[in-house]
Amino acid sequence: MGQAYSCITCFPSSSSKDPSQSQIPDLEMNDSGSPTFLPLSPCATPTTTTTTTSTPNSVARIPANLLNHTLDQPTQWLQLSPEISYNHNYSPLEMALSRQHRGSGFDVPGAVHSVTTPRLDKEMQGDAKLVIIMVGLPARGKSYIVKKLRRYLNWLQYETKVFNVGNLRRECESEHEQSAKFFDPDNAELKKIRDKLALDVLENLIRWLKEGGRVAIHDATNSTIERRALLLKRLRQEPQIRVLLLESLCTDDRILERNFRLKLLGPDYRNRPAADALADFKSRVANYEKAYQPIGDWEEERDIQYCKLINVGKKVIACNISGYLTGQCVFYLMNFNLADRQIFLTRHGQSTDNVTGRIGGDADLSPSGRKYAEALSKFIKEQRVQFALDLVHEQHEREEIWKSKGLEPLEKTDGSRTPEELMKAKAESICNSQFIVWTSMLKRAMSTAAYFDPDEYDIKHIRFLNEINASICEGMTYEEISNVYPDEYNLRKQNKLFYRYPGIGGESYMDVIHRTQSMIIELERMSQSCLIITHRVVMRILLGYLTDMSQKEMPHMDVPMHTVFEVRPKPYGNEILKWRYIEHLDKFVQDH
Ligand code: F6P
Repeated sequence: MGQAYSCITCFPSSSSKDPSQSQIPDLEMNDSGSPTFLPLSPCATPTTTTTTTSTPNSVARIPANLLNHTLDQPTQWLQLSPEISYNHNYSPLEMALSRQHRGSGFDVPGAVHSVTTPRLDKEMQGDAKLVIIMVGLPARGKSYIVKKLRRYLNWLQYETKVFNVGNLRRECESEHEQSAKFFDPDNAELKKIRDKLALDVLENLIRWLKEGGRVAIHDATNSTIERRALLLKRLRQEPQIRVLLLESLCTDDRILERNFRLKLLGPDYRNRPAADALADFKSRVANYEKAYQPIGDWEEERDIQYCKLINVGKKVIACNISGYLTGQCVFYLMNFNLADRQIFLTRHGQSTDNVTGRIGGDADLSPSGRKYAEALSKFIKEQRVQFALDLVHEQHEREEIWKSKGLEPLEKTDGSRTPEELMKAKAESICNSQFIVWTSMLKRAMSTAAYFDPDEYDIKHIRFLNEINASICEGMTYEEISNVYPDEYNLRKQNKLFYRYPGIGGESYMDVIHRTQSMIIELERMSQSCLIITHRVVMRILLGYLTDMSQKEMPHMDVPMHTVFEVRPKPYGNEILKWRYIEHLDKFVQDH
């Protein structure tokens, strides 16, 4: 069953100043200690980073008296020199138009190249760097969300790092008492320490961005306006940095109770008796709740861009989203779920081209490839049953742990069925749930799925999953390429990720990443289990995302033929299993 999603978006108000700048409004604290905003400077430099063919002398700026202009008036303002125009005080309309001229921060590594000049390099302040400030009470899944977001952005080549305030707090554990008392909002002394920890982490994060990072995530509760104002005030001193506030809310008691219990296994509580730890954690949450101020009017009045995720993305509210990168983040966050499922990935069975070592092409399976295809369909069926049993077993074990720690069972029964009957019913329902098979549109991949019954499986052939297009090198062996195109061969060796095969349709790994982006989003969105039958490059790219592999290693990942990778998403990350087909035994064995 798919989730019901809803999304509310709110665009910058027409009266806003410059939304791209005003995400970090000028902040001052008033006498009462609460934050006030200073008006923005009207001549803030517009923000852009996308392709433009402007040179300094062709930068046409919009004059202040544009609104009084008629078309038959002389347009000498178009010839204004950049020096004069840059010193101008712009109205909001001028700045908006000027932003359009420079583009809107559309920047895709490996696919969009921004033409700049030394001057534009110096002056442009597009969403070159992004800070995501997390907001939310403890146990609202913030760390889960940031881990996923970091993995996705890194996969897209935006270097991203999470800076967790709790980790720094734990490092300073000897200095401060870490029980619920430490989080008492009425204790000014302790609040000061917590604010300092948050600011110290912010400094680390800014330093990292200045050293070349692209997106930094401040992972903390940041649950009061005062705290957020403190962070925003510091960030305003960094004109290259844009900010997205990302709040996670949870109204589902079942998810909350599960999250609370996961905390008991985490670093703050794992060595304390469970009941005592749970009580302490709940009192910590209560302390935060006393002072909690969700994102709302305060941020909206200041045109700060924010996104609220309610119940792990079931409902999403986005406001003022004004950059390409932040738009990508919000789209991603709207598309994930927590369903228990299996994601299998395999290359197609051996093709006749694989036998002769030729790359690309559209050959069909060899006899050995056909044998693999047949074995694969049986193996997947067995693994589906095994998965259902494993899940039920894991759940039973977890309940036993809670019981041994003196806690109530998490999954309550209504008494009409025994726990064993319930488990059996659950296993059957997992086994019988819908299962999806995706293949590329190339013969060798479609033939590998030939043994899956379309009445039982939802089978789709998808072009995005086709192998990298090697253009002029299609159908050649690597040896032939090194003899005929030695320069190309060496260039690819030097930078496999960005190297694009020359000739019509030729692709790079980065190109394949972009065309599989929609596959990743779909994979995150759907809750059913699936099998993906594809090719070496696409396998590396999809597995690179699922296993959080660095881009440096990903293009060289070992993905042998006749091997199945099984991914089981878990709250703490993906669990990966690897199975190798042994042809002479006609069976799969697990590879450790
Ligand atoms: O040889 C099989 C194949 O899938 C080719 O079609 C493809 O060009 C190649 O592998 C990709 O591997 P690599 O990026 O290591 O050259």
